[in-house]
Amino acid sequence: MINSVSNQSNPSVLIFDSGVGGLSVYQEIKALLPQVKCTYLFDNEAYPYGELSQEVLIDRVDSIISFYIANYSIDAVVIACNTASTIVLPTLREKLTIPVVGVVPAIKPASVLANKAVGLIATPATVTREYTKDLVRDFSNDTHVEMLGSTKLVEMAEAKLRGEEVDLVLLTRILKPLIDNIDVAVLGCTHFPLIKEEIAQALGKNVILVDSGEAIARRVQSLLQLESGSLYEGEQPVWSSALPSDESALNKALKELGFSSVQILRFQDV
Ligand code: DGL
Repeated sequence: MINSVSNQSNPSVLIFDSGVGGLSVYQEIKALLPQVKCTYLFDNEAYPYGELSQEVLIDRVDSIISFYIANYSIDAVVIACNTASTIVLPTLREKLTIPVVGVVPAIKPASVLANKAVGLIATPATVTREYTKDLVRDFSNDTHVEMLGSTKLVEMAEAKLRGEEVDLVLLTRILKPLIDNIDVAVLGCTHFPLIKEEIAQALGKNVILVDSGEAIARRVQSLLQLESGSLYEGEQPVWSSALPSDESALNKALKELGFSSVQILRFQDV
């Protein structure tokens, strides 16, 4: 589906996640397509998504995205969350007339690189999804995929973006089942590229880390038929569904990334 983009020189892309993880996808989109006006929307009221039931998650993402699209002019939506993308994309694509890009664990490219085994690090929900099991069955090339689901790692990424240090001892303890057993790790949650250096340190220098961020940026480029352009310097809004924790540290990080301060989106009041 190719839509006519409302503002050809600075198309407007909505990036959505439960928390700050989608900012890792934002960085890839901005690196490839600086001219895009990005809006960041996160559902912190229902965070962490990795602990929600499928029904609640589908309903949440459907309501918040539909509300946003109905009220603001957007050319494409990126569901920058593996936990949501593995179940909500069909519902959204059926409803919306603009392109919807999702992010799912990069099992296929990881398996091509692996000689030993692949470790999939994701949320507790993503590692149990049928979608993920199908990805492994269809694209792992018979390479063993060891799954590790952790919400603690998501929390660590949230804290790091707000300026806190990652506890390397705890991180290493969480990743222990993968250490020395894999040669490629898939960062199957968009929060994890934010703590990539620390994950690399814990897993050791022989482990290759793979994520889907760059592929998502290329998908946005092809769906909106864009060449690379010059930097969009106007306002890039940020919306959350509830008051964010440690708001001033978050706003500081958002400003460094080129965003305005967080505003609350009251999507349930209507
Ligand atoms: N960033 C999200 C993902 O890619 C989910 C984190 C969470 O809310 O559990 O899966």
